[in-house]
Amino acid sequence: MRPLVICGAGGFGREVIEIVRAINAVAPTWDLLGVVDDGPGDVPRAHLERLGVAVLGPVASLSEVVHSASASVVIAIGDPATRARIAAAHDGCDWATLVHPDATVGHDVSLAAGVVIAAGARLSTNITVGEHVHIDQNVTVGHDSRLDAYSRLNPQACISGFVTVGEQVLVGANATVLQNLTVGAGAVVGAGAVVTREVAPGTTVKGVPAR
Ligand SMILES: CC(C)(COP(=O)(O)OP(=O)(O)OC[C@H]1O[C@@H](n2cnc3c(N)ncnc32)[C@H](O)[C@@H]1OP(=O)(O)O)[C@@H](O)C(=O)NCCC(=O)NCCS
Repeated sequence: MRPLVICGAGGFGREVIEIVRAINAVAPTWDLLGVVDDGPGDVPRAHLERLGVAVLGPVASLSEVVHSASASVVIAIGDPATRARIAAAHDGCDWATLVHPDATVGHDVSLAAGVVIAAGARLSTNITVGEHVHIDQNVTVGHDSRLDAYSRLNPQACISGFVTVGEQVLVGANATVLQNLTVGAGAVVGAGAVVTREVAPGTTVKGVPAR
């Protein structure tokens, strides 16, 4: 079993605990030492207690905690920019890549360090996924697509074939990006949007068609 620390104890952090448990149920892989988090508030702390997971310290202590335990770490914070900032501040950590056993990852799909793939996600073929990308529950990613570092696809997002999702993009729940399009770095696609044309970097689009 490899020691593992989760950075972030918010909603997604606790969902990642479930991903770790699901992986271990199939093949004992990770010894979850606990989470680092700058809160957590009373409610998340109570939820963690019910999950039997310890709080090891604040986020600033991440490098120290993981190095002293020779642990791998995964950043389970939804906001792309926050994830990028923490990864840069703790360069040199051994970033774990976690794939829920109920996700489907096809051939020639490369997953970089720190990627998290949740239950029900489907990645077909010839796909490149950059560092610390989060692919949440029931997302589909079509052939020949590229997801750049720190992006996040919320539940049920549908990325068609030949799509490029730039760095630190957030694609909202149930949004669809049509084929051959690029969503520029730092853009936000609102929940339920249908993206029918290129999305400029740093912009927010929403609605059907997305504007
Ligand atoms: C699009 C989004 C980024 C906009 O956030 P925001 O700038 O804070 O927007 P606001 O909440 O201030 O709303 C501004 C307007 O946009 C509308 N709006 C917000 N989100 C929308 C969406 N997804 N689709 C269509 N309209 C939306 C609001 O109704 C409001 O309209 P009004 O001005 O006529 O009242 C955000 O609402 C969103 O969809 N984020 C993704 C959330 C998600 O995926 N959640 C699932 C988590 S698991």
